Amino acid sequence: MLEITGLQKTFLKGTPNEHHALQGLDLTLPDGQFVTIIGSNGAGKSTLFNAIAGTFSCDAGQIALDGRNITRMPEYRRARTISRIFQNPLMGTAPNLTIEENLALSYARSTKKLFSRAVTRKDTDYFRSLLAPLGMGLEDRMKTRIGLLSGGQRQAVTLLMCTMVPPRLLLLDEHTAALDPVTAEKILKLTAKIVAEHRITTMMITHNIKDALQLGDRTIMLEQGRIVLDLSGEQRAQMDVAGLLQLYRRESGKELDNDRMLLTGE
Ligand SMILES: Nc1ncnc2c1ncn2[C@@H]1O[C@H](COP(=O)(O)OP(=O)(O)OP(=O)(O)O)[C@@H](O)[C@H]1O
Ligand SMILES: [Mg+2]
Repeated sequence: MLEITGLQKTFLKGTPNEHHALQGLDLTLPDGQFVTIIGSNGAGKSTLFNAIAGTFSCDAGQIALDGRNITRMPEYRRARTISRIFQNPLMGTAPNLTIEENLALSYARSTKKLFSRAVTRKDTDYFRSLLAPLGMGLEDRMKTRIGLLSGGQRQAVTLLMCTMVPPRLLLLDEHTAALDPVTAEKILKLTAKIVAEHRITTMMITHNIKDALQLGDRTIMLEQGRIVLDLSGEQRAQMDVAGLLQLYRRESGKELDNDRMLLTGE
């Protein structure tokens, strides 16, 4: 369970550019919940992920994961239980290592085994069994350097690396935004499958409202560092893109302003 209370983060404090990116944000995620996150550009979505992952420390508030206060825990220690995937497919994998070496690296990291570039036969078989269900033929290209793969293939491998030992929390920051629509759809399906299989507590930022309402079991909207909408159950099941935009307009008195959302929101 993730429990966030009164989280505050101000950038460039005391300067003319002071910006209150998180303004007393509260959020509780029960185990296994998959929440999708939407909001205008600059609403504080990525900042919330940075705060949870420990990229910086917050000015006030508390973050607890599985009952443990992690508010002051350094990023590298949180990374043992919190996995994160970014929009840029180049960020999750090492380009000069092969597919199997990349998998071995994250396997070693998450099982605290010593990493060796010599991948054992047993590990190879295991990695092959993980790659085959992707349907991308990567199980036959295990000695290919990751740098030679397409963005979608890389993001698929990243997804495997982040979940082969299931994290306590998975943070997805628009992880399909840089992919073409067909590949993005594939990766989203794969995400939903892996998350459901392992019941991973997951937060997914997306600019696609349709995806936000379809995937997972709860949708929250951020606005100026606060949660302004929180949909689940029947209310969410009956919501569509037009309905959500209307609700937002009613609550905030303005239009949702996300440069990418306008293109894909319908
Ligand atoms: N390290 C930083 N230093 C200064 N300002 C920052 C920093 N990180 C974020 N901000 C500011 O905080 C606000 C929230 O940014 P954030 O990246 O969280 O937005 P977002 O909701 O993820 O937007 P987008 O949809 O564009 O990705 C923005 O105004 C941003 O400029
Ligand atoms: Mg962002």
